[in-house]
Amino acid sequence: MQKINQWHQFDTSTQVAEAVCERIIQSAERAIADRGNFKIVLAGGSTPEKIYQLLVDTKTDWSKWMIYYGDERCLPADDKDRNSNMASSSLLENVDIPASHIFPMPTELGAVSAAEKYRQAIADVESFDLVLLGMGEDGHTASLFPGHLHNLEETVHEVYNSPKPPAERISLSAKTLANTRQLFFIVTGDSKREPVKQWKQGVDLPIATISPVSGVDIFIDSAAIS
Ligand code: 6PG
Repeated sequence: MQKINQWHQFDTSTQVAEAVCERIIQSAERAIADRGNFKIVLAGGSTPEKIYQLLVDTKTDWSKWMIYYGDERCLPADDKDRNSNMASSSLLENVDIPASHIFPMPTELGAVSAAEKYRQAIADVESFDLVLLGMGEDGHTASLFPGHLHNLEETVHEVYNSPKPPAERISLSAKTLANTRQLFFIVTGDSKREPVKQWKQGVDLPIATISPVSGVDIFIDSAAIS
């Protein structure tokens, strides 16, 4: 059962981005003070991109950040539609995170190899500190799509039939995404109204299956709420 801590509603997507940026920095400060580093899982999407741009001008000890990804499209390494390339150009190229702390999903190798390598990359992660996730118009999150079957024990899921191109992707599984101290869903725009309504009604959408023990926080703009 998914525990929702709070729906944080804002007038605009820019306000959502500003609020999430502030909360990410708080989360980083706490993780670095308590455990010496900050393990964050990044999301793709337009509001996350705004958040990454805002993070560039914040004060934090970037040398302690460790960057993981929730999902990735199987595309060539330099393809602009990869989440890792969006995160690099908006954030990672502009701050001093050691290259050895950045764990892109190597999906240029295809889903089988990429998933195998990513299972190894996250094998030592006891728990993430913060997972960021968006939501698609169909209620998907990361690359976990409605109607797809999932092995509940796997840590990284291979996707061959994504309804949104490209068909081939890899994604952290629901179990892995829930292994975090905090989780923020970032939901903006009027195309999200229907899945938000269904989520609130308890429809079994992928986004509703991510259930960290500490609960989830939803940052949403008024356009996404009917
Ligand atoms: C994909 C999309 C998707 C995206 C959401 C939210 O699966 O191909 O990248 O996962 O994150 O659709 O996107 P926005 O934040 O841009 O609304």
